[in-house]
Amino acid sequence: MNNELDKIFEAFDNNGIFKDKSMLQNNYQPEEIPHRSKQIKQLASILAPILRGERASNLFLYGKTGTGKTLSIQYIKDELLKRTKKDADFKLKIEYLNCKLKKVSDTEYRILAELIKKFGDEVPATGLPTQSVYDKFIDVIDSSKQLIVLILDEIDQTTKKISDDFLYNLTRINSELSKSQICLVGISNNLTFLDQIDPRVKSSLSEEEIVFPPYNALQLQDILNRRAKEAFKEGIVQEGVIAKCSALAAREHGDARRALDLLRIAGELAERDSSKKIYLKYIDEANDKIERDKILDVIKSEPKQFQIVLNSIIQLSEKTPSHHLFTGEVYNFYRDLCIKNKLETLTQRRVSDIIQEFDMLGIITVNVISKGRGGRMREIKLAITKDITDKVKEIILNSLSY
Ligand SMILES: Nc1ncnc2c1ncn2[C@@H]1O[C@H](COP(=O)(O)OP(=O)(O)OP(=O)(O)O)[C@@H](O)[C@H]1O
Ligand SMILES: [Mg+2]
Repeated sequence: MNNELDKIFEAFDNNGIFKDKSMLQNNYQPEEIPHRSKQIKQLASILAPILRGERASNLFLYGKTGTGKTLSIQYIKDELLKRTKKDADFKLKIEYLNCKLKKVSDTEYRILAELIKKFGDEVPATGLPTQSVYDKFIDVIDSSKQLIVLILDEIDQTTKKISDDFLYNLTRINSELSKSQICLVGISNNLTFLDQIDPRVKSSLSEEEIVFPPYNALQLQDILNRRAKEAFKEGIVQEGVIAKCSALAAREHGDARRALDLLRIAGELAERDSSKKIYLKYIDEANDKIERDKILDVIKSEPKQFQIVLNSIIQLSEKTPSHHLFTGEVYNFYRDLCIKNKLETLTQRRVSDIIQEFDMLGIITVNVISKGRGGRMREIKLAITKDITDKVKEIILNSLSY
């Protein structure tokens, strides 16, 4: 055993792949942001008034995942802070909050408590009426003359878990401040978010809008090339590898995060194989791994009822592998499972919807076949491989035992 471990550790020690892996990690902040100069200039001109102590328009940034929104706003934040004048008669504060963080986004109380903390004060973790937390928040920011830019990244999360009121109150807050002023920057990758919220909030939040379009394959290649140069040792990336990562990520709605992940994971797989180079095949393997992890993540975060429906499909498929399943069969099995686990049973209609969602996620395939005289049936087949199925079973088992 020890011999084998030695081998593993040695192989890592002599690794000839990475020079600096952090260059490919998600939180790495590159010095330059290619292909986003238009958006960054727009950001600069909209936010520029704050350097003179004037409130800027509220601003909304949107674009699909991995299009550089967070990166660009962090960059502009730093550039603005670099340029603040020391002798100004106001304080400039730019605060960034990711609303997706678990401890933040659950309740209005928590998000306000987190904001209060950012402004250097605190409230107890629970217990106060929400209104007093609001009052406290207003006191804190209005205690001295401040110009505040509040960046709310993944802002759609606030309406998902908290009510619309939170954003409404926030957009009205300037009328309650006497010394300070606040400017809101909302960011979202949910392109329909603005249409789903209260129209008053919408018009206030999007006084200005900046769109982050997907990157195309060539732009992704350029982004990857720059980062790969720093990340990998020389000559270890096989010709075509970067082009392939870029092409795959461009297909996946032009997502730079996906492109970087593909390259990093391919590097890790090559390293694990003690390979001298990152070959094209490692990109395929990395892509499979990402897809697999994505499915598992979705399943983990689904409510119990979803998991039980999926569990029913898996168990039935394993019993009779060659046979396609029908919705009715799945439903009966599901109902029995619910009864056994003392859980509320959903209607067949609702279970059908859930099955459709699994189809969209690529976990199963559903074929509609006609049965003559206008009758139609839906045939269900599991679309995930055996090893994913095993992991899914583990996840579901864990979740159901709580
Ligand atoms: N133009 C670029 N140059 C270099 N790296 C980039 C560029 N755009 C994005 N990236 C990198 O891609 C990853 C995703 O970017 P970012 O986090 O800004 O995406 P996002 O638009 O905020 O996505 P989401 O909506 O999922 O939060 C990050 O690792 C970032 O460093
Ligand atoms: Mg982001």
